[in-house]
Parts: sequence; C-alpha cells; structure tokens
Amino acid sequence: MMWKDKYKVGVPLIDEQHQELFKRLSEFLQIVQSKVIWEEKIEKVKETMIFMQEYVIVHFDAEEEYQEKINYPGIEKHKEIHAKFKEEINHYVTLFEEDGFTEEIVQEFGAKLMTWLIMHVGKMDQQIGEYVRSQGGSIE
Ligand SMILES: [Fe+2]
Ligand SMILES: [Fe+2]
Repeated sequence: MMWKDKYKVGVPLIDEQHQELFKRLSEFLQIVQSKVIWEEKIEKVKETMIFMQEYVIVHFDAEEEYQEKINYPGIEKHKEIHAKFKEEINHYVTLFEEDGFTEEIVQEFGAKLMTWLIMHVGKMDQQIGEYVRSQGGSIE
C-alpha cells in the first residue's frame, strides 16, 4: 500500500479521495508489473486506467470546489497545477487512442502518476489543511 498517514490533509472528503487514488494506483501498478503476459492483463489495465483518468478529474474538481468554499488564497496557483496535470493525462489518452495500450506507455503513465501523486498530495495539498488550521477554522 502506497498511502501513508502523513499524506492526510485533514479534510475528510479530500483524504478519502486521495486514499482511493493511491489504492487504485497501487492495484494498477501491481497488475502492470505482474508476470502474466501482457495480452492477458490488458483488459484489467485498461479498466483501471480509464477509472484513474476519470477519478483524477473528479478529485481535482472536488478539491478546487473546497478551496473556493474556504477562500483559499493559493487557489489560482493550485488550479494551474491541476490543469497542467490534466493536460498530461490527456496527452496519454491521445497516445493510447493512437497507439493502443502498449506496455511501454502504460508503464510510463503509471510511473508518472505515482510520482505526481506523491509529490502533489505530499506537499501542495497539505497546504490546504495548514491554511484551514491557521485560520483556526473547523475542517468541513
Ligand atoms: Fe489532491
Ligand atoms: Fe491538489
């Protein structure tokens, strides 16, 4: 399991979504890295990947909505970073549409997603919780 408690932001909805993202991502990486031949795991790979692509967007929208609700001062910068990552995901969607789900690109996508999630959730998203606490506000 890749999730760590130190990734908790302190906002229940955000934390649940982050945990789901990490859970699905580690499942995804396990499938990709398993010894089964590529043709046999491709369906599961596709399914998980489509889920990830959609769920990342769902999560970004929810997180941005929350930032709006609390008047988070870093919202514009945060939205920009989310938007850049969405573009990257779209780039991979295009690659998959054009070249199919090749092992090499799927591996690359998994690695990107993992690095990005750890960096972003571990740092930038943490600042949302820090802001709420600094305002002495309750975290709903
Ligand atoms: Fe997040
Ligand atoms: Fe975020």
